[in-house]
Amino acid sequence: MDGYKEEFFDRLESAIRYGDKTANAEGRYPYIPANDQALANSLEVVKKILEHLKITREGCIPPSTKKGPTKLPTFLDAGCGIGRKVHVAWRKLFSAKGIEICDASIKIARMVLGTKAIIKADLLKYTKYDQFNVIYLYMPMVNSDLQDEFEERLVNLSQKNVIVISAGDRGFKGKLHNLQNSKFFSTMVKRLSIRESGYKILVKPALYEQLKRDFQPCKTCKF
Ligand SMILES: C[S@@+](CC[C@H](N)C(=O)[O-])C[C@H]1O[C@@H](n2cnc3c(N)ncnc32)[C@H](O)[C@@H]1O
Repeated sequence: MDGYKEEFFDRLESAIRYGDKTANAEGRYPYIPANDQALANSLEVVKKILEHLKITREGCIPPSTKKGPTKLPTFLDAGCGIGRKVHVAWRKLFSAKGIEICDASIKIARMVLGTKAIIKADLLKYTKYDQFNVIYLYMPMVNSDLQDEFEERLVNLSQKNVIVISAGDRGFKGKLHNLQNSKFFSTMVKRLSIRESGYKILVKPALYEQLKRDFQPCKTCKF
């Protein structure tokens, strides 16, 4: 992208952020995008976990081509803003959707990605988290009580094998286990030649134990 275009899009994103005047009063962050490449890197690792769990198959192709396997893993950006991460996940061959509460962001996201890709909902009221294999979030709530309420809801209503990608600093208070620094994760990162680090990858305790057992890094392998 040339410098002028980039500057224009930065201004557009700032305009939406500062235009969301009720955000802070309602205990939520306005739209602030996290790094797209870091999500792309995380999704490479997540795809390997999904393949292992037989949730998807190697070599999936976009459903629009109507050839070959069509079972794509499902991805949700919880608080998607204008949908940049939904686009990243779509490019990585996920069936991707975003949830958003702010009308200005929803309007743009739907213009770019289509109406069906964006669910207009409040994360604290939404119930269908079990439809998604992968749920990504970047600090939707300012208010830590609301963030806790959201995380609890997400953990309780999601699939047992859900993979959560968190771009924020806050953890999940022991309800999900972090794979980011585990041997498994670093083995995968090396194997996939990912240079830039990804975001935190979290799973429920039972899946964490399974993955730790299944992916004992090979002591003699060279990466
Ligand atoms: C920090 S931004 C993250 C944007 C995007 N996920 C990314 O990583 O690039 C948080 C987004 O969550 C949305 N949000 C906050 N609280 C929400 C709620 N209760 N329901 C739905 N969306 C919410 C905000 O409007 C904002 O767009």
